[in-house]
Amino acid sequence: MTASDPVLLAIDQGTSSSRAIAFTLAGEAIASDQQAFKQIYPQSGWVEHDAEVIWATTLSTARNTVSACRAKGRAIAAIGLTNQRETTVVWDRRTGAPIHNAIVWQDRRTADVCRALTEAGHEAEVIEKTGLRLDPYFSATKLAWILDHVAGARQAAAAGHLLAGTIDTFLIWRLTGGARHVTDATNASRTALYDMRHGRWDAGLCALFNVPMAMLPEVLDCAADFGTTEPGLLGEALPIRGVAGDQQAATIGQAVFQPGDVKSTYGTGAFLIQNTGTELVRSSNRLLSTIAYQLDGQVTYGLEGSILSAGSTIQWLRDGLGLFSKSSEVEALAASVTDTGGVYLVPAFTGLGAPWWDPDARGSLVGLSRASGRAEIARAGLDSAVYQTRDLLDAMAADGIACGRLKVDGGMADNALFLQRLSDVLDVEVVRPVLTETTAFGAACLAGLGSGLFQSLDDIAALWKPSVTCHPKMDTAARTRDLSGWKSAVEATRAFRP
Ligand code: G3P
Repeated sequence: MTASDPVLLAIDQGTSSSRAIAFTLAGEAIASDQQAFKQIYPQSGWVEHDAEVIWATTLSTARNTVSACRAKGRAIAAIGLTNQRETTVVWDRRTGAPIHNAIVWQDRRTADVCRALTEAGHEAEVIEKTGLRLDPYFSATKLAWILDHVAGARQAAAAGHLLAGTIDTFLIWRLTGGARHVTDATNASRTALYDMRHGRWDAGLCALFNVPMAMLPEVLDCAADFGTTEPGLLGEALPIRGVAGDQQAATIGQAVFQPGDVKSTYGTGAFLIQNTGTELVRSSNRLLSTIAYQLDGQVTYGLEGSILSAGSTIQWLRDGLGLFSKSSEVEALAASVTDTGGVYLVPAFTGLGAPWWDPDARGSLVGLSRASGRAEIARAGLDSAVYQTRDLLDAMAADGIACGRLKVDGGMADNALFLQRLSDVLDVEVVRPVLTETTAFGAACLAGLGSGLFQSLDDIAALWKPSVTCHPKMDTAARTRDLSGWKSAVEATRAFRP
């Protein structure tokens, strides 16, 4: 490998920020940029993003990273794109303008629609075809909501003027100057409109959710030709050769390639994906079946556990309660006490995801005493991501797939206290790799595969190296006590309906 070897540009459009990172083929990040953007909360349980801001921050971070590469004399071979999943945009193909803010994956506004469809007996069909549940988390009801609430949208859609997509699709459409309306199989598998058994949009689901199928993009493999950027945007025409939803990109970056391998990524939410191989495994414990990746037309499936609030809980402790000014300070504050003193925080800010799937639940802080202070509450916030992870591993184990080792990444994985607590409460080995930017790196790897710079997943697996390994040190009685308190806290939270 020499300093003149080409690099791969990862574009990572996440829930809280847009980022670009250029990686060498050895996995070294040589340039990057990141811009946070505003979260829009129009009502309780609603979350939106301005799609123009998503575009502007994506373009600007990509440009800055491309310029930094040029300054180092490094040529970009291809782009890999990864994105917050499920978040839905509808735009006018004639003007390129979104007709409404993007409705974010966390948004619960369509809970009533999902409840009505469930009561009408449609959930079994949705689970059978998509592996998902009838929950507002997924794109279908968000897309229909936009069509039903923007004046004239249904007519414009019927006339063929509107296009729809997840964030990857919207960004690729913009990056290619409107030439390509495409997505990849992993993003398609999160819409609740895609029959992942047969790899196609499903007419029955489109009818059920009242979504015109003609608005939906073409679905490609994760390593494929997604088009070429307009030369004026990044200073040259660059091929987009890899795409995956962020959790699936992290699955690639963490080299979760063997059936039974599990990774957990702690971003805004936290998402566990267990590789189940080429077999579509169904959960009896309310986990999702999903597409882990699709290469050369071959689908590799996964079981997923979705935690809706992880890093966003730390943000709330920082911005909502003002407990500290930088997220990294949570570790020292939480470590200043040995336990929470019986305090539990159940972060159901936008409902609870797996295994509860309770969109109407709202958060709670229980077990307070006069001895409870900032440190106990901060520690309870960190613990909430630990306990939610435990609930998901328990569900996976109940499905008959035990986890021996958990690969972790994302912002919270930098927190040593959190990692040890995870290992203690989960009672498994927890490993953080050397390369922690696994989501962006996974997207770069897909671009490497799509452009022929990597020959196979073996080339990617060879780059994965452990950095920190935690082993469980907690005694069983203490673990049982903590988990029993968490169970009671979740029950109390779910029972509370204002
Ligand atoms: O399904 C939502 C997920 O893709 C968002 O990921 O990293 O923004 O929490 P993140």
